[in-house]
Amino acid sequence: MNVLLIGSGGREHALAWKIAQSPRFTRLLIVPGNTGTGSHGQNVPFPLSDPEALVDLAQREHIDLIVVGPDNPLADGFVDHFEAAGIPAFGPTAAAARIESSKSFAKEIMAASGVPTAETHVFDSPGEAAAFARESGKLWVVKADGLALGKGVIVPDDLPSTLAAIKKLGATRAGSRLLLEERLQGREISVLALCDGKRMVALPVARDHKRLGEGDTGPNTGGMGVIAPVDEVTPALLEQILTRCMQPAVDELAARGTPFRGVLYAGIMLTSDGPRTIEFNARFGDPEAQAILPLIEGDFLDVLYDCAVGNLNPDKLRRRRGYAVCVVLCAAGYPGRPRRGDPIRGVEAIDDNEVIVFHAGTAIGPQGLCTSGGRVLGVTGLGPTLAKARANAYQFAERIKFEGKHYRTDIGKE
Ligand SMILES: Nc1ncnc2c1ncn2[C@@H]1O[C@H](COP(=O)(O)OP(=O)(O)O)[C@@H](O)[C@H]1O
Ligand SMILES: [Mg+2]
Repeated sequence: MNVLLIGSGGREHALAWKIAQSPRFTRLLIVPGNTGTGSHGQNVPFPLSDPEALVDLAQREHIDLIVVGPDNPLADGFVDHFEAAGIPAFGPTAAAARIESSKSFAKEIMAASGVPTAETHVFDSPGEAAAFARESGKLWVVKADGLALGKGVIVPDDLPSTLAAIKKLGATRAGSRLLLEERLQGREISVLALCDGKRMVALPVARDHKRLGEGDTGPNTGGMGVIAPVDEVTPALLEQILTRCMQPAVDELAARGTPFRGVLYAGIMLTSDGPRTIEFNARFGDPEAQAILPLIEGDFLDVLYDCAVGNLNPDKLRRRRGYAVCVVLCAAGYPGRPRRGDPIRGVEAIDDNEVIVFHAGTAIGPQGLCTSGGRVLGVTGLGPTLAKARANAYQFAERIKFEGKHYRTDIGKE
């Protein structure tokens, strides 16, 4: 099978690595790709602005399946173009991807299908939202409706900061519509499932770490680390999450004539009243994919294809025993403006049963491998226990050297 993969992050390196292991795999093109994807296929330096140019490329190169990694091309309807050209694509159409690209649409789907979530109020102006917050006498989580690179949610602790949050998010493009949500309490998990429009198969449950500092403190980032699976999610609890918090949304989208094919990623909060869906994403998380994909066995590429053509057979995927801990190594300056061009040492092409290094923000400079983005590398440790996976990840993370390297040391710590 010839595959075209879209994206350039650590997630796409993990996808390229996994796809290239499949028995049916022949050839991989990655647009635009990164240093890591380049070792599993051919990077094509195309801009990600013109879906029709990608259709031409796919036809010229006899591509059998297109896999879309990031959220923006999905929201922009790239999959609609591929489908119109008759090329199977793994990823939702723009209409189905609205479950991520519009939080108010996601809430509408949850309400219509009975998915348990937080009470929500939607406003089309900051003034109305502020008036409601003042009068309600309750505390609310403030959310921008649209895609905001992880910067569209504020969880304030009092009314003045709530009003400031409404003002701040209301002034952004994503925040032309605002949501005020009941504040829930509980531990959070990420449940990702491969979906063919009707059926789903769950991947190992993950827990991400979005804050920059140890113990979940400091500013938000794209993600500093992930563990999988999460022991507190028993098979019975996972089944409950799938049937109550996810499948109804899939059924609702199908009933509306916009079936969801791709990765449905549910952000779940485990509250004292049971699991509730906080949000849906329409793609693999990054770095979640870097911990989850190494835990899957079976012909992954085959399953992606089956999802794309609406014919998922859940028995084709198996879960590998053990745990994965992914630690993200960041460049100087991240999550502000990262410094580029720092030479990286100590990254051999390691790919065995104990550690895998995924590239995100790296490039080949005059002196070899160097930093070229905020999140530079993802180091995934594997092991029969969480502690062993964690030890493997950190042992290798310490061996990689570059000026300004920083990372959290508490990923996977009990
Ligand atoms: N209703 C809520 N109650 C409590 N915390 C919330 C609520 N909604 C979101 N949060 C917190 O904010 C984070 C980001 O919210 P989320 O809806 O996942 O948006 P995004 O991932 O697009 O930034 C969540 O992971 C959670 O920690
Ligand atoms: Mg989220």
